[in-house]
Amino acid sequence: MKPQGLRDLLSVSLFGVLPLLSGCESPDSQSHPKVIAEDPTDIPIAGVSAELKKLFFEGDVAFDAVFLEGDGLGPNYIRTSCGSCHAAAGKGPGSVQKMVMVKSDGFTPDSDQSALPWGSTARPYYAGGAQKGLTPPPSSPNLKLSTRIGLATFGRGYLEAIEDREIERIEAEQAKRTDGIHGQINRVSYQSQANPDRRYHQHQPGQTGLIGRFGHKARIATLDEFSADAAQGDMSMTSPLRPTELANPDGLTDDKKPGVDLTIDTINLLAEYMRLLAIPKREAPQEQAVALFEAAQCSACHVPSLKTRADYPIAQLAAVNAPVFTDLLLHDMGTELADGLTDGKASSRQWRTAPLIGLRFFQNYLHDGRAKTIEEAILKHNGTGSEARGSVEKYQALTPDDKQLLLKYVGSL
Ligand code: HEC
Ligand code: HEC
Repeated sequence: MKPQGLRDLLSVSLFGVLPLLSGCESPDSQSHPKVIAEDPTDIPIAGVSAELKKLFFEGDVAFDAVFLEGDGLGPNYIRTSCGSCHAAAGKGPGSVQKMVMVKSDGFTPDSDQSALPWGSTARPYYAGGAQKGLTPPPSSPNLKLSTRIGLATFGRGYLEAIEDREIERIEAEQAKRTDGIHGQINRVSYQSQANPDRRYHQHQPGQTGLIGRFGHKARIATLDEFSADAAQGDMSMTSPLRPTELANPDGLTDDKKPGVDLTIDTINLLAEYMRLLAIPKREAPQEQAVALFEAAQCSACHVPSLKTRADYPIAQLAAVNAPVFTDLLLHDMGTELADGLTDGKASSRQWRTAPLIGLRFFQNYLHDGRAKTIEEAILKHNGTGSEARGSVEKYQALTPDDKQLLLKYVGSL
């Protein structure tokens, strides 16, 4: 994998001046360049080869590169760098605004989405010849707006490496439970062109039955596809995996850079960087805290560890017990958390169990950041019809000291 794409990218935009856009000021104009590899959240997995480390640092640069019109920015975009929604590979600060027409219950999607001709994602900024932003229509009782915070990207190599069989085993085990906890795999299709780098997977366009692992609703199976999807959807940067610009109010099919904007090497470099991101350092846990996590049934969904594939191409991630604290399954979290949107098999009320990784670095919790503390996040598992209600009751029944111990443990993961 020669990162030729990176060279193009470096020469055009890396330390580039802020984008001179035809429309409006860049949302990234306030961001500061960060120091590479000094963040405790932005470091490579220990023990990887010098060659992989080099790719990690090159990928880190590509992840924070700011894209300009000359690079292919436009027609409509949300932000101009991956890092602006995943600062230091973490969660946010950037986010995505979603919009959907719902029925009168406020969370079931309406079959008529004609008020949203360009889909359910707002892309307010424009460049590359476009004249209009893609913003929500005037507010109406049927229009539901919601936010999705950029998820952390560290530790995601482990998620990609987990064996399909493990996830299927957990789904089957949960199906036998009698306490209402019954997560489901989001079976998704591969919605990109085939990747010429066939080391991680050989998926073909339209291939179905894959296990969705990434995104708040587990809508994508692999990190290269997620990179191409994010580049196209969040930054209007097309690539060989996703060669077409998304539908937009100006009806444009290209921007100032004719053809695809990013090379396949850049997409694969971004994916490799994320695969190599370590799980932030954890202290050895207190046994009693681990027992509480189990007793309150947190571990039923936030499964402490899952086994990875033996043939995963990064040796440090192959055939290990990945300490990810998720089952990668979708759970019904109740109506209060429902956002009105579906994704593959995921319903409006279903969410992927959030991996409990590096929570101490987050400013806010849950898919839209509505919880400001870990305790608030737990209490909001208690929505109408939520699978986690019993678990919240068990949490609430703990003594104040035990609650503190559990919260401290969750925050240290
Ligand atoms: C405008 C903000 C924004 C930008 C820019 C952005 N992301 Fe994201 N990212 C998000 C949001 C929001 C999610 C959750 C998406 C979902 O639920 O499907 C996400 C999720 C992810 C995930 C899934 C993590 C997980 O735990 O499942 C990966 C990987 C990722 N982004 C990589 C990237 C890469 C690579 C880029 C640049 C090419 C990028 N993102 C650019 C907002 C952004
Ligand atoms: C039925 C499955 C289930 C159980 C049981 C459960 N959770 Fe969760 N948890 C989830 C899901 C799904 C999410 C993501 C919800 C969202 O993003 O809106 C989540 C999110 C979280 C978050 C927010 C993480 C973030 O990155 O924003 C924390 C913290 C958390 N859970 C802790 C706990 C603790 C502690 C317990 C036990 C008291 C627990 N959970 C029990 C499924 C579960």
